[in-house]
Amino acid sequence: MTSKLIRTSFFEFFQNKGHQLVPSAPIVIKDDPTLMFTNAGMNQFKELFLGNEKAEHKRVVDTQKCLRVSGKHNDLEEVGVDTYHHTMFEMLGNWSFGDYFKEEMIPWSWEFLTEVLKIDKDRLYVTTFQGDREDNLEEDVDSYHAWEKIIAKDRIIKASKADNFWEMGEVGPCGPCSEIHVDIRSDDERGKVNGRNLVNKDHPQVVEIWNLVFMEFNRKKDKSLEPLPSKHVDTGMGLERLCMVLQDKQSNYDTDLFTPLLYKMEEVAQRKYTATDKKEDVAFRVIVDHIRAIAFSISDGQLPSNAGAGYVIRRILRRAVRYGYSFLGLKEPFLHKLLDVLNEILGSTFPELQAQKEIVKKVVLEEENSFLHTLERGIHLFEDYVKNKPTGIDGKFAFELYDTYGFPIDLTELLAEEKNLEVDLIAFESELKKQKERSRAAGKITTDDWVVVREGSKAEFVGYDNFSTEIQILRYRKVEQNKKKLYQLVFDKTPFYPEGGGQVGDTGYLEAKGVKLSIVNTKKENNLIVHFSKELPHPIDSQFKAVVNTTKRQAAAVHHSATHLLHQALRKVLGTHIEQKGSLVHPDYLRFDFSHFQKVNDEELEQIEDFVNQKIRENIALNEKRNTPIEKAKEMGAIALFGEKYGNEVRVIQFGESIELCGGTHVKATGEIGLFNILSEAAVASGIRRIEAHAGEAAWENFKTQRDTLSFIYQQLKRPKNLNQAMESLLDEKNTLQKELGQLQIKLAQGVKKDLLQKLKTKNGINILIEEVDLDAASIKNIAFQLKSELGNLFLVLASKHTGKPNITVLISENLVKEKNWNAAKIVRELAQFIQGGGGGQAFFATAGGKNANGIEELLKAAQTFVN
Ligand code: SER
Repeated sequence: MTSKLIRTSFFEFFQNKGHQLVPSAPIVIKDDPTLMFTNAGMNQFKELFLGNEKAEHKRVVDTQKCLRVSGKHNDLEEVGVDTYHHTMFEMLGNWSFGDYFKEEMIPWSWEFLTEVLKIDKDRLYVTTFQGDREDNLEEDVDSYHAWEKIIAKDRIIKASKADNFWEMGEVGPCGPCSEIHVDIRSDDERGKVNGRNLVNKDHPQVVEIWNLVFMEFNRKKDKSLEPLPSKHVDTGMGLERLCMVLQDKQSNYDTDLFTPLLYKMEEVAQRKYTATDKKEDVAFRVIVDHIRAIAFSISDGQLPSNAGAGYVIRRILRRAVRYGYSFLGLKEPFLHKLLDVLNEILGSTFPELQAQKEIVKKVVLEEENSFLHTLERGIHLFEDYVKNKPTGIDGKFAFELYDTYGFPIDLTELLAEEKNLEVDLIAFESELKKQKERSRAAGKITTDDWVVVREGSKAEFVGYDNFSTEIQILRYRKVEQNKKKLYQLVFDKTPFYPEGGGQVGDTGYLEAKGVKLSIVNTKKENNLIVHFSKELPHPIDSQFKAVVNTTKRQAAAVHHSATHLLHQALRKVLGTHIEQKGSLVHPDYLRFDFSHFQKVNDEELEQIEDFVNQKIRENIALNEKRNTPIEKAKEMGAIALFGEKYGNEVRVIQFGESIELCGGTHVKATGEIGLFNILSEAAVASGIRRIEAHAGEAAWENFKTQRDTLSFIYQQLKRPKNLNQAMESLLDEKNTLQKELGQLQIKLAQGVKKDLLQKLKTKNGINILIEEVDLDAASIKNIAFQLKSELGNLFLVLASKHTGKPNITVLISENLVKEKNWNAAKIVRELAQFIQGGGGGQAFFATAGGKNANGIEELLKAAQTFVN
């Protein structure tokens, strides 16, 4: 069976059992501070399990794009070394939200594996949860009984909490699970060792294929378990492994999900993949694994960057490049060449890949190029390091190469080996550990458990229609990040707009009995609207009036509507290839990132600005449609974004021909925007441009500042008829004058030099010049050096009060400096006292400036005394 057929068989099997097929959630998570990437199919359903949200469908089936690079479930450095771990993988899942449970799920799983996929029953083993004393949990006898009816008892293995109690993380929904394992060893080997003994023993050919989780509890921060309001089913089956089993392979990489990529890589690297654990083959696996994670994340809108999720993508990409570089000798970018093949494999299942192909290519190519440069710089650094003939490679230096230049330790070792040097691995490891601890401490967010004030489901957002309303608090908790403590509050309903769709969260206050408490921000976390305050409202169970800061809200709405018009203008002026890649809607400005392959020139920018302002003047009324079926919205031509999670019902925001799916707040008619003004246009990544602009009040304020500046210039230039011309001729005139002045200064200096030569005195063979001149400092220096080279044996002190500022220059020919032990810097400091100043320089040349021009006469006398 091909991977495509396996996937659709799974969907169809559960669709026939009343399940709704839903799309994968984005791989990059935007509204959960504890999780950057989707790491399990259940992430997007967390709030349903916890009972904070109601399910639209009680039975759901899907395939979920997952990424595991760190933490409980995986380690990036291991991927590619073995044949069955991945960064990105697909998890087939079926779900019951408070509907069917173990009794239905267990026989269905058996039916699907043995009747639809026709996996040999003799190769299957199952596990059930044996109970746990610490958590006071009974054995899962229901699952055991369900299996007993299907499979021989000696194929059921009872296992402990570590293997058979699934938890999403430190806290959150969890429950006992029952896993299905398959033994794909040869008959010969199966004859020798019973597969039962190899279950859960990390044997590459006796592997778990399906995990049936029976969600029943919520793990709290104090580690206790609290029963969930209802019981749910969450199953997860790794597609890559399942394909390995059904396609009769020994490695996930030998399935049709990867082989086309490996073939392409063979062509690119001009070498065969031989499926061994040699470094070259590891490199092949690393590359074909990583390109999937990279492509999926970028098409879901996450660009490589230096922080957060973007940094994880960058690290994955760099790991792939350096494996190609070190072990396959690939010194030119190559990753982007795999993207067409990847599209052939997965593009029909995940249309976002297809649609974003060109932009993903651009971004990947640029990242590859810049990292290859970094690698080269690192190699130079390494070569410089070994030039000093070290006895070994210091761990700190190896760490610098790793941290700043992306060198994996084995690359450094390889380079060291070539020079017969060893790397201090112990010191390297200790640096690495220190860094890990630093970053863990910096990013750590700790959240207390929710304290429930009153029962109720999640807050309803009423802020489209109301800026203030009476509310009650449902629950609260304390959160701490970087030593900052805040409270999160959940209301029964809220007028506060939570940060989302680029728009910043509302601020405002809660009021009870005349006492006000600030709400400093509002965010959405896993679909829950949380309000941030510095203190807890008191008493917590009273009725509060929740009031939004309407000035800020209106200013944000102005910028949000302006953003839609800008998006429309970009498509009109530059073309419909424009896709939104990110946006920030702030009360004071907006930022809009979009795909476009060249700089937007001034003429285009003006057209865009004109277009938006035209739409503003047309005063187009808002047509807002809430709860529109997504299909209908798409028929209307509404623009949806990749990497966004949309429900079946969406909100459509229309201003004339601008139609977008959007949850943000908007003006009632475009006239409220008032004015739109582009501030800048620049690149943020290859193929991605950014426009910053402002609108409304902010644009008006900016206009006034500019007008005032202009008016000042106009006044200064004595109100000319044509300001541009006047400015130009002023600058022309200035240039001409400057040139003339330069020439005059040269002439003047030559004259002064001549005079000085006449005044030259000679004593004991030393040429002495102690004079006052009227020249600028640069000319004096010039003359001094000319005299030095023309005369030799010179002691020169020139003082000047050109334009009122006294200064002195002392120059002594080098031979005198040596013979007489004279020092110009010392002399200049002493002489500077006469003009109340200071200075310094070298032994043969020094200068000083001062405040008192009247001191010059005395100063020259003192210099004379010195030579005498
Ligand atoms: N949540 C379980 C897992 O991730 C089953 O989907 O393995």
